[in-house]
Parts: sequence; C-alpha cells; structure tokens
Amino acid sequence: MKLESRRVIVVGAGSGIGRSVAIAASEAGASVVLAGRKREALEATAALLKGPREVRPLDASREDEVGAFFETIGPFDHLVSTASQGASGSITELGTAAIERAFAAKLWAPIFLVKHAARRIAREGSFTFFSGFRAVKPSPGASITSLVNGGLEAFTKAMAVELAPIRVNAISPGVVDSGSFWDRLGTEARDRLFSDFAQKAPARRVGQPEDLAAATLFAMVNPFLTGTVLAVDGGGHLM
Ligand SMILES: NC(=O)c1ccc[n+]([C@@H]2O[C@H](COP(=O)([O-])OP(=O)(O)OC[C@H]3O[C@@H](n4cnc5c(N)ncnc54)[C@H](OP(=O)(O)O)[C@@H]3O)[C@@H](O)[C@H]2O)c1
Repeated sequence: MKLESRRVIVVGAGSGIGRSVAIAASEAGASVVLAGRKREALEATAALLKGPREVRPLDASREDEVGAFFETIGPFDHLVSTASQGASGSITELGTAAIERAFAAKLWAPIFLVKHAARRIAREGSFTFFSGFRAVKPSPGASITSLVNGGLEAFTKAMAVELAPIRVNAISPGVVDSGSFWDRLGTEARDRLFSDFAQKAPARRVGQPEDLAAATLFAMVNPFLTGTVLAVDGGGHLM
C-alpha cells in the first residue's frame, strides 16, 4: 500500500496504535505529521521514522487549538485520530470529570478535527477514526466506552455522507496489546484480561498495534471504502 507523495496527519501518534500507524504510513512513503498532547511522546515516535515527519503538539478536544493547527498545517491527504481517554466504572460511581474526558477525546475531538480539516483535506483524501468493540459488545463498567464508541461510529457514517467524496471510516479494535492503554488496570488484571480475550476471541490472541496499522493503511488507500466501521477485533464482537 503506497502513500508516496501523500501527507498524513496522525493524532495520537505518541503512543500505541497511533505510533504504529505513523511508522506504517512513513514506511509506505508518506510525510507524517505527528500530533497529540505530549511533545516528548511525539518526539519519541519521530525518532522511529526515517522519512519526512513533523511534530505538532495538539489537544484535539480544544476547538481553538484545532482551528489554529489547521490554519498553519498546509495541504494534506489523510487524517487519522486514535485520541481516547478511558472512563471505566459503574455508572452509579463514575465521576462527571472522567465522563467528560472520554467525551472530549472520542466525540469533541473528531467533531473539531472534521470541522476544521474538511475544507483543507484533499478531495480524494480520508479521515479514519478509532472506536472500539465495546460499541457493539457492552460489558458492566464500560458503559461510557460503549457510548462514545457508538457515537463516534454514527458520526463517522454521517460525515461520509456529508463530506463526500472525501472518505470517512472508523476502525473498531478488540483488545490490543498497545502499551499504555491498559496500564490503568495494573499488570495482573491486564494479563488476566488478555488471557481471557485470547481464549474466547475467534482469532485466539490479542491484537498487536501493527494489525491495526495495516487496517488503517487499507482504509486510507482504498478509494471505494467509506462510511464503514472496520472491526479489526479478532472476532471480539462475536464473543
Ligand atoms: N488498545 C486497545 O485494546 C483498544 C481497544 C478498543 C479500542 N481502542 C481504541 O483504539 C484507539 C487507540 O488505542 P491505543 O491503545 O493506541 O491507546 P493510547 O495509547 O492510549 O492512545 C491514545 C492516544 O490519544 C492521544 N490523545 C488523548 N487525548 C487527546 C487529545 N485530546 N488530543 C490529542 N491527542 C489525544 C494520547 O496522547 P496524549 O495523551 O499525549 O495526548 C494517546 O497517544 C483509541 O481510540 C482506543 O479507544 C483500543
């Protein structure tokens, strides 16, 4: 999958799947803009890339920052956002601040990104957002994750229709060993979750960031793919 002479913005490029997407896009020949809130993490990703890259710190949940980012970014072809903030816990105990953070990363950020990028992205370009299998496979304590992922998937389809012919897709990962995403659980609970998923999911393993990066490149380059939620979840939605 070739991305030569293409410019790709990756929001969430400082860690996990976003870092892997940045590496894969760069290896496919793209010039990559690495965005996310932490400059240090973005610099660490930049050090792994051989091709042209730029580090551009950005809080995508702040409309003023997103507006200023696109004022100065210049022409580009594809935008990928993995931005996410977890909010786990029973609905009777979850604090409003945690819920707001989850909304900010998974709902407000995609809204602001599309709103300010749509007039500037190449007409044959694409947006790719990341939802997650909890949108279709709820679990106690993950209601806000289900809500934001489901909302993002609905928004993706609406944008595919509204922004056509610019393509808009979402990728829905299952459990992926992507590093810091699962740190909040602690090592023991994370290992239990991974082993439980690997036993029950049809793929019989957890995902790797590279699995998701390959799907993201496919979503970027396939000109007939739009308004789709690609479940790259090891069959997790069937468990
Ligand atoms: N890993 C899994 O098992 C799994 C399962 C289901 C769904 N997913 C979804 O897949 C996506 C990628 O997951 P991952 O494992 O790579 O998670 P991750 O390592 O936590 O990546 C999320 C990225 O989003 C960035 N971010 C958060 N808020 C932001 C904001 N307001 N503006 C800009 N960047 C922001 C974070 O960087 P900063 O904090 O530096 O900004 C971070 O680099 C997420 O949407 C996640 O919900 C993952």
